[in-house]
Amino acid sequence: MARIFSGIQPSGELHIGNYLGAVKNWVRLQHEHPGATFCVVDYHAITGRYDPQVLRARRWGMAASLLAAGIDPARVTLFMQSDVPEHTELSWIFTTFTPLGELERQVQFKDKAAREESIPAGLLMYPVLQAADILLYRADAVPVGEDQVQHLELARDTARRFNAKFAVAYFPEPQPMLSPTRRILGLDGQAKMSKSLGNTVGLLEADDAIWGKLRPAVTDPQRVRKSDPGRPEVCNVYQLHRAFSAPAVVAEVEANCRSAGWGCMDCKKALHGAMVAELTPIRARAAELQAAPGRVLEVLEDGAARARAVARQTMREVREIVGLDPLTVSAAALPAEGAPPAAG
Ligand code: TRP
Repeated sequence: MARIFSGIQPSGELHIGNYLGAVKNWVRLQHEHPGATFCVVDYHAITGRYDPQVLRARRWGMAASLLAAGIDPARVTLFMQSDVPEHTELSWIFTTFTPLGELERQVQFKDKAAREESIPAGLLMYPVLQAADILLYRADAVPVGEDQVQHLELARDTARRFNAKFAVAYFPEPQPMLSPTRRILGLDGQAKMSKSLGNTVGLLEADDAIWGKLRPAVTDPQRVRKSDPGRPEVCNVYQLHRAFSAPAVVAEVEANCRSAGWGCMDCKKALHGAMVAELTPIRARAAELQAAPGRVLEVLEDGAARARAVARQTMREVREIVGLDPLTVSAAALPAEGAPPAAG
């Protein structure tokens, strides 16, 4: 059985882009893979400029949103990365043999670094920490979106390098499990959905606010009049139907779009109905948790205890493999010179 780990940044409010790209997939997976581990990666969230008070709010908000979206702590472990400092410890060990050039070639690093005057070293090390997140739990399957494929490649390289350097078969090589939902564009139909671009729908937005955003959302740009046949394959609203509507409705949408039987407003109304049906219970659970915030803390505390038990065990073994285990008196008798260095 696959050992599953995934993480999500405590960015602002969870929106339907990261809900569909990651979280909905996690909620689905927890039934087939009880025992999966999911993490709010707050150490990753501090590589840029940020306000500590805002970070606190976002860490709490992300944990609460994940629970509201249906992550079930009775099935999976949900925890806050910074509650398990072994993540940073393993990350340091990995940095000691990760080639700098490989980190500099990471697309996400290049993109982010291009926008910074002064590049924090942590930004470069970001994927090493990510490799540590995954390998600390010796996970072999990582549910992520397509944008994480390169980071996963680095995690596999890291596992392979560690195993080769110390001549062990210790870490598995983790594979991505891509979400069935293709990349969801923002409502502008142009760029990836992202809070900073203002093209998102928040997971907890009210029904009328959702409609206020769907109504002007970009569809097939070549469909000008209602009588023009549409092309679902280029329409972002159709992609959203595929994510939110039942298969029979998706088929109906597609047929009515191509035949111009429906106008884009008809299609958007149907989508609004499907979104409201899926998001209403999530919003209700979020309100419950907001009223009983101690429940979120309980889940995180319990999750951290479980995660830490695994993390400690891995670090005990890693420390032994790399020669950083607790010294015993027998160390006094070891040859300090002339011993061949470990391969690699
Ligand atoms: N880099 C991931 C993202 O931005 C978040 C992440 C950090 C992650 N550590 C991880 C994802 C470990 C999967 C596994 O989405």
